[in-house]
Amino acid sequence: MRNPDPDWEIYIEQFIPRLDPLLDELENYTRWHTPYPQMLSGKWQAAFLHFLVRLKQPRRVLEIGTFTGYATLAMAQALPDGSKIITLENHPENLSIARRFFRKSKFGHKIEAVETQAPNWLNRNNEKYDLVFLDADKENYPLYYQIIKKSLNSGAWWITDNVLWNGKVLNPGRDPQARAIAAFNESVRRDPQLETMLIPLRDGLLWTVYRP
Ligand SMILES: C[S@@+](CC[C@H](N)C(=O)[O-])C[C@H]1O[C@@H](n2cnc3c(N)ncnc32)[C@H](O)[C@@H]1O
Repeated sequence: MRNPDPDWEIYIEQFIPRLDPLLDELENYTRWHTPYPQMLSGKWQAAFLHFLVRLKQPRRVLEIGTFTGYATLAMAQALPDGSKIITLENHPENLSIARRFFRKSKFGHKIEAVETQAPNWLNRNNEKYDLVFLDADKENYPLYYQIIKKSLNSGAWWITDNVLWNGKVLNPGRDPQARAIAAFNESVRRDPQLETMLIPLRDGLLWTVYRP
């Protein structure tokens, strides 16, 4: 999906939802103040998530892996009044940046940010969600397959990032993350209660619909 021509990007950006300018500030801050800024979703992917939230109009959204809150804010901007995003992050410094930007945002009141190990938190909480964005520890993707499925409302959309893992899912070899993602993808693909659509955007987004 990448083309080296900058005009290509400028052209495409005319056709994606306009995100709050605070996100440019957050992207810039993340670039200069965190060791792995490439973890941030980026403009196209965040705009896509924003668009999905606009279409789905979920009451409750769950994000696993807040990082500095870029995708969280993009989704919050599209969320109907009275709806909420719960976002889980285990790294205190990432979360403190995210919370600072949530406080600055006019959509921040729709976000509940929790510092936690996501699998433990999900096992303790039995809430159900209408939309889930999974974007955290890849080695645990097979575990998330088990836990998240139990947290979905009927008809829920579940979006999972990095399902191509830079193409390594085709031949995972000994790479533990590629192996875990490939196993996750296979479980989802074989699950008769999950309908899938793999979007080849960035590192691969798997859009799954839960039909129990
Ligand atoms: C790829 S980044 C998330 C990017 C973010 N969703 C965005 O779109 O900008 C993954 C994040 O998951 C967090 N993380 C990893 N393992 C986790 C776990 N077990 N529980 C909660 N957060 C975790 C990492 O600290 C990191 O900030």
